[in-house]
Amino acid sequence: MKAITITLAALAAGSLFAMAAEPAPAPGAPAATEYAPRDFSKLLGMPGFSGTALSNHFKLYQGYVSNTKLVLDKLNAMVAEGKQADPACAELRRRLGWEWNGMRLHELYFENLGGTNAPDEAGALHKKIVRDFGGFDAWKKEFIGVGKMRGIGWVILYEDTANNRLINVWVNEHDVSHLAGAKPILVMDVFEHAFMPDYQLERGAYIDAFFSNIDWSVAEKRMGK
Ligand SMILES: [Fe+2]
Repeated sequence: MKAITITLAALAAGSLFAMAAEPAPAPGAPAATEYAPRDFSKLLGMPGFSGTALSNHFKLYQGYVSNTKLVLDKLNAMVAEGKQADPACAELRRRLGWEWNGMRLHELYFENLGGTNAPDEAGALHKKIVRDFGGFDAWKKEFIGVGKMRGIGWVILYEDTANNRLINVWVNEHDVSHLAGAKPILVMDVFEHAFMPDYQLERGAYIDAFFSNIDWSVAEKRMGK
């Protein structure tokens, strides 16, 4: 129980370093999961995003990757030890979605940055945006409006592949309000750490900078997969 208490404390603190003291998985436990942080340093120098803000954002992202691996390894070990019914195991299970989505949403966000071109008006994404929102500007206005909602979280343009529709979605924290089965096409981080270092409370200016740097080719490729 002591080891679990330490683990939860480390997770709550979001510490990368507390994990160094984690015990090895129990004998017979499944092999450790492999999750490694991806390198998004190519974004350094992107207009409207300071190197300090981006570097700190990368570190935050790396913490989610480390904690995703930690939670999965700990869960595997507890299941192997027959502790599936332990409340600590249940709480770690609840925690997984938060860490996992913190990892994947940041990867989607960094992936869809670093572009310089306008969306391809002949492409499937632009056409579908126009069809579903009545125009590109109408979609953009709604997406920005979602991004300016009070609170912190994510704005995601989702594609409902089952019904062939695009929907702008607010995701609170990392793990609440996702649309099951829908595909994230464009992801914008509106946690305070994403905009306050460079823009303080001017979230709208940060959103403008985000739009100036969208890699639309990445968003296009996410369609319909
Ligand atoms: Fe973030």
